[in-house]
Amino acid sequence: MSDLRLTAEEQALLAGAEGPGVKRAMEIVVALARIYGAADLAPVVHAQIAGVSYKNVGDAGVEFLNRWADEGAQVRVPTTLNPMGMERGKWQAWGIQPGFASPQLSVIDAFEKMGVTPTLSCTPYLFQQYKPQRGDALAWAESSAVAFANSVIGARSNREGGPSAIAAAIVGRTARYGYLLDDHRRANWIVEVRCPVKSVADFGALSYSVGKAVGNGVPWFADLAHWLPPLPSDLTQGGLAGDRLKTLGAGLAAYGAVALFHIAGVTPEARDLGESLIRPPAQRLVIDSLDAAYRVMDADPDLRVIDLVTVGCPHASLTEIAEVAEYLAGKTLATRLWVTTGEITRQAAAELGYVRIIEAAGGEVVADTCAVVAPMRMLDVRTMATNAGKMACYAPMHSGVKMRFGDLAACLDAAVTGEWRGDRVTRDA
Ligand code: F3S
Repeated sequence: MSDLRLTAEEQALLAGAEGPGVKRAMEIVVALARIYGAADLAPVVHAQIAGVSYKNVGDAGVEFLNRWADEGAQVRVPTTLNPMGMERGKWQAWGIQPGFASPQLSVIDAFEKMGVTPTLSCTPYLFQQYKPQRGDALAWAESSAVAFANSVIGARSNREGGPSAIAAAIVGRTARYGYLLDDHRRANWIVEVRCPVKSVADFGALSYSVGKAVGNGVPWFADLAHWLPPLPSDLTQGGLAGDRLKTLGAGLAAYGAVALFHIAGVTPEARDLGESLIRPPAQRLVIDSLDAAYRVMDADPDLRVIDLVTVGCPHASLTEIAEVAEYLAGKTLATRLWVTTGEITRQAAAELGYVRIIEAAGGEVVADTCAVVAPMRMLDVRTMATNAGKMACYAPMHSGVKMRFGDLAACLDAAVTGEWRGDRVTRDA
């Protein structure tokens, strides 16, 4: 049992001064603080809630959220939502059954009743109005976003669970432990990469090899700067480096349980503190080749016919959408293509004309959802291709699809031809 210090206000919330919904939230935050031995609670500036799709939360989740909302609980910090199981304006056209859509909409209603903003995206850091600053304490439950915020921005978040992120949003605080503390932000693995890492797919493959080895450790990439252009000062656009680090963090969090990584000379804490961030004796990992990772992630090597090509996991940035539009200009697709993104980014992409080009080719820029949290069987999708490491990991597990994994060029070639020819157009082409 820890000596948890609570302020008078926190004790009042715990005693029910603001009603049963807030009391329930405070009980969750305090229970976690005691489990993890926190000395006190930290104010958070933003919460990101995961577990939004009806596919994941089921009827029990719908009932739990509605009960909490009915108790009058309101978030007291800006709070945003992960993707749900369908796009708001398109689910009827997609053929999503009311038996899925109705409880899904009930989940969103419950969150809105609590004051949550339904951004329905896993990349809150791409949105100007929500992007965190270095040093901010966050309560984020989306593991890919936690890895990005901690590592690339230098904000501070643990991997919150669905209910604990809601609870933190309602009381505006989280337990101060783990990655909120300096000492837990030091690296315990040194990773040397001795092979080319030239694309988003390569960074996904690297995330597989490193994530499997380090588990929930904190890797220090000693020499990855060579494969990264300088980080843009405005990360909300994505940019080549931002997109690569987005996929790296997502894959490290999916294949391992990494919440923080450092890259010598690149990420903010590594730039400021240098090798003093490494806690001796750190373990060492050398990556000589990505071939073994590609063999596992490109899980169905005999698969040729692709039902759906999906790009944008985590949700696509403006630069990724621009890249797809540039490739597809004047072409016609032979199979379905989803470029999944947040509605905020889609609107920006529409203003720049990218959405029109992708739609003219026959593709869709899809908001609010992704091919992991949408009911893909209901949409008749059984085979998929992607350039995203996390999607290659999760879609076969959560959506029961067969998967091809390769470069963006290989994926878009499959969208145009309807057939995977990745061995001819992939990374060493
Ligand atoms: Fe986001 Fe879906 Fe990937 S929630 S991180 S696009 S699995």
